[in-house]
Amino acid sequence: MQQQGIIHAEGLVKVYNGKVKAVNGVSFDVRPGEIFGFLGPNGAGKTTTVSMLSAGLAPTSGQAVVEGLNVSVDPEGVKRRIGVIFQESTADQDLTGRENLEVAAGCYNIPAAEARTRSESLIELMQLKDAADRLVKTYSGGMRRRLELAVGLVHQPRVLFLDEPTLGLDPQGRAGFWSFIQKLRNEHGLTVFVTTHYLDEADTMCDRIAIIDHGNIVATGSANELKDRLGGDIVTLKTTPGSMDLTSLITGLPGVNSVQKQDSSYRVKCTNGEPFVPLAVEACTRAGVGVTGVTVKRPSLDEVFLEFTGREYREEGEGLTATDRAVMLQRVQGRLGGRR
Ligand SMILES: Nc1ncnc2c1ncn2[C@@H]1O[C@H](COP(=O)(O)OP(=O)(O)OP(=O)(O)O)[C@@H](O)[C@H]1O
Ligand SMILES: [Mg+2]
Repeated sequence: MQQQGIIHAEGLVKVYNGKVKAVNGVSFDVRPGEIFGFLGPNGAGKTTTVSMLSAGLAPTSGQAVVEGLNVSVDPEGVKRRIGVIFQESTADQDLTGRENLEVAAGCYNIPAAEARTRSESLIELMQLKDAADRLVKTYSGGMRRRLELAVGLVHQPRVLFLDEPTLGLDPQGRAGFWSFIQKLRNEHGLTVFVTTHYLDEADTMCDRIAIIDHGNIVATGSANELKDRLGGDIVTLKTTPGSMDLTSLITGLPGVNSVQKQDSSYRVKCTNGEPFVPLAVEACTRAGVGVTGVTVKRPSLDEVFLEFTGREYREEGEGLTATDRAVMLQRVQGRLGGRR
């Protein structure tokens, strides 16, 4: 097998209980030092993919190689090298932040003196200095997430997996958390694989994105590349009501990919919206039609999702995640012994 990225997935499949096909043959490569966003609606297969890549869940078929180690061949080796933070909180609420860090360091057999030094610098990095000696149960949501990030970094991994790290945080908490992730990447060269169902986060924070839907990757690329694949920007031209039809005139202008007319407005898809506007206004004016308004819009990831899946992006099932719902159902049916 040819290995490319620091994270390499090839035809990964997960079928739960022989019937639920949660991940349906996904392949991608993540480059070193990249923030790679795994974006999809509830139940798309994000947590399942992270669980396989982080060697917590055996793939039904396919391969995953992380930092040169195959997750199926050497799961323990993979776990020692990576950091992983799941949707649900794992910090011990009845310990302080500092104690949580030192316990985590102990799990990796880091000597006590070294554990203290690392804990101190992570506390500093995550701006938890004032809270470090308080019990975690007194922390805010944002502080808890920062502590979890610190815990996930205590063994100095080069690859970090984050499953919906900003779920439940307010906009300020989300922005703050992302600034830590970017700092870690910029200053420590960390590779970050992060799932989210927030389109805006993926758009602005990730270097590249894979969009997953019903267990299949429907598109991969930078947010700009994905938007470009839609045929460029959307320019809306409003003309004086009742004026002549300019569809063929606008269609003939340079860079235009398509034109839709609605009443006296034109929705124009064009390669680059800004230089198109003066050309269009001039052409309309020359044809004797007044332009009463213009908007230029870069397509959003909502439109990218719609284009690649044929349906609107929506977040189903408020509150519980797909994984939680599946696990609860299994518990009710008595198939699981209380733990995942
Ligand atoms: N332990 C499990 N047993 C059975 N089915 C499961 C299990 N975990 C997840 N599933 C199912 O697999 C599919 C993918 O779930 P997964 O948790 O990977 O999605 P997700 O993209 O992480 O969703 P969310 O955004 O809600 O966290 C869903 O249909 C889910 O119900
Ligand atoms: Mg999930």
